[in-house]
Amino acid sequence: MGREAALLTAARGAKVTVVDLAEAKGQATVQTIISAGGTAQFVRADVTNEDDTAGMVDAAVRNHGGLHGAFNNAGIIGAGGKISDYSLADWNKVISINLTGVFVSMRAELRYLEAQGAGSIVNTASTAGLIAYPNLPADVASKHGVVGLTKQVAVDYAPKGIRVNAILPGSTMTPLAAESFGDPELRAKAESAQPIGRLGQPEEIAEMAAWLLSDGSSFVVGGAFTVDGGVTAA
Ligand SMILES: NC(=O)c1ccc[n+]([C@@H]2O[C@H](COP(=O)([O-])OP(=O)(O)OC[C@H]3O[C@@H](n4cnc5c(N)ncnc54)[C@H](O)[C@@H]3O)[C@@H](O)[C@H]2O)c1
Repeated sequence: MGREAALLTAARGAKVTVVDLAEAKGQATVQTIISAGGTAQFVRADVTNEDDTAGMVDAAVRNHGGLHGAFNNAGIIGAGGKISDYSLADWNKVISINLTGVFVSMRAELRYLEAQGAGSIVNTASTAGLIAYPNLPADVASKHGVVGLTKQVAVDYAPKGIRVNAILPGSTMTPLAAESFGDPELRAKAESAQPIGRLGQPEEIAEMAAWLLSDGSSFVVGGAFTVDGGVTAA
């Protein structure tokens, strides 16, 4: 999803800073953007680390002349299991990346955006931020947390000219989902559970991210937008 959002916003003229722990994947995205005539740089960062997130904002400002939008999208599903069997280590890992990562990233971004008095932040939650899924206590809790934190920060920063919103993707065919849907039987089951009859594509999430980052969504504040083929409507 992050890759597709980077490609789409770059194609629409944004200078993009691609951030990931995975350097090779991030650099490949940057090369794709540059080959298509766009502007991009890669910054390796762990979104749970304050120095790293400060570094990603500094790099955007230093090399691209400013920061206007941020898509906080890094996340994992983590381990599965009922809460009684769920280890504290597994819990801490998911909460740390999915929720604390958004907190730490927004702090770094808002330090710059507040002084500028403008900007748009988009956080990736999940349909698991709205409804429960069996055996995913940390994922569901972390994504509900992302929705709540998005609304809370949106209220504090709207008067300062900064908009904060969340996207709630449903099952979308990305490397992360391939872990769950690699098995054709499981994939067919997941597809038939979607009112639209198929899984999402990361490009479809990127469209929502690009719109929320753009001035086209100038009155949209503190929203939590499902992009899920109708799963949460059913
Ligand atoms: N794919 C789905 O079905 C689905 C559904 C709902 C929500 N989501 C959410 O969408 C977001 C993107 O997921 P995706 O499906 O594109 O997965 P993905 O695994 O393809 O991408 C996630 C990226 O986050 C990076 N990452 C992980 N931990 C990091 C860290 N500590 N610091 C920096 N980068 C880190 C990974 O290297 C990876 O490139 C996640 O927040 C995920 O929870 C995905």
